[in-house]
Amino acid sequence: MGKLKGRIAAITGAAQGIGAAAAKRFMAEDVEGLALIDMNLEKVKAVAAELDPSGKTIKAYKCDVSDFDDTERCFNEIFADFGRVDVLVNSAGITRDRTLCKMSKEEWYSVIGVDLNSMFNTCRQVCPGMKEREYGKIVNMSSIGYLGGHGQTNYAAAKAGVLGFTRSLAKELAKHNVSVNAICPAAVDTDMIKGIAPELLAQKMAAFPKKRPAKPEELASIILFLACEDSDFINGEKIVVTDSRMCS
Ligand SMILES: NC(=O)c1ccc[n+]([C@@H]2O[C@H](COP(=O)([O-])OP(=O)(O)OC[C@H]3O[C@@H](n4cnc5c(N)ncnc54)[C@H](O)[C@@H]3O)[C@@H](O)[C@H]2O)c1
Repeated sequence: MGKLKGRIAAITGAAQGIGAAAAKRFMAEDVEGLALIDMNLEKVKAVAAELDPSGKTIKAYKCDVSDFDDTERCFNEIFADFGRVDVLVNSAGITRDRTLCKMSKEEWYSVIGVDLNSMFNTCRQVCPGMKEREYGKIVNMSSIGYLGGHGQTNYAAAKAGVLGFTRSLAKELAKHNVSVNAICPAAVDTDMIKGIAPELLAQKMAAFPKKRPAKPEELASIILFLACEDSDFINGEKIVVTDSRMCS
């Protein structure tokens, strides 16, 4: 029996990268219903059609998760379609790297909006129901970038914020059998790292334990672990995948 049998899950940022890989993995684990959410409707619909040609299990939704009202509207549609959400994966994220002295207001606010405010916007929709039903699993994508990096004041602030958010929400909901955990990838082979200069990427990879970025499927395995009963005793934690600094 699949590890998500009988569960209804929602994944943000599901049109590509880690979110899409998680969707594929969830399908392989017999998820009962799956809401795939992204800004890019065409792309997220294509992922849904590929993974579930019958359209019985997966539905695709267009939503800007940085916008509270749009997120509320989207989850109301999901609740109408599936009745509830048992598992929430917050994978939507963006980078807008620039040193602070040159960073625009748009670059600051957009990263805080998509990478941090989205956590409130989505969790606020699903947590009351999870609390009431005494069951829930929330997996938030942070980043090793929470430690701070050149040109990443916006991203580091957002991803560090995700960790504080995760721990606080875990404390609030632990007694209701809801787990809230975070993942901090270092580098994953998706569009997000395509913008990094090849020399800089090669330099980073040299310090990595496997000398390569993680595959999205490798992240999907960790998301699954935190989304199913296997991780029932883990709450408010972060899993680092993998901090090269520990291996040097
Ligand atoms: N790839 C990496 O190396 C890496 C490292 C550390 C952390 N992360 C984090 O993992 C998560 C997933 O990253 P990825 O590598 O799959 O990125 P990706 O760029 O491949 O995918 C991100 C997805 O989020 C969607 N998205 C962006 N803004 C949105 C919005 N406002 N509303 C809804 N959807 C939106 C995009 O359309 C895209 O489909 C992100 O939170 C990212 O910060 C990635």
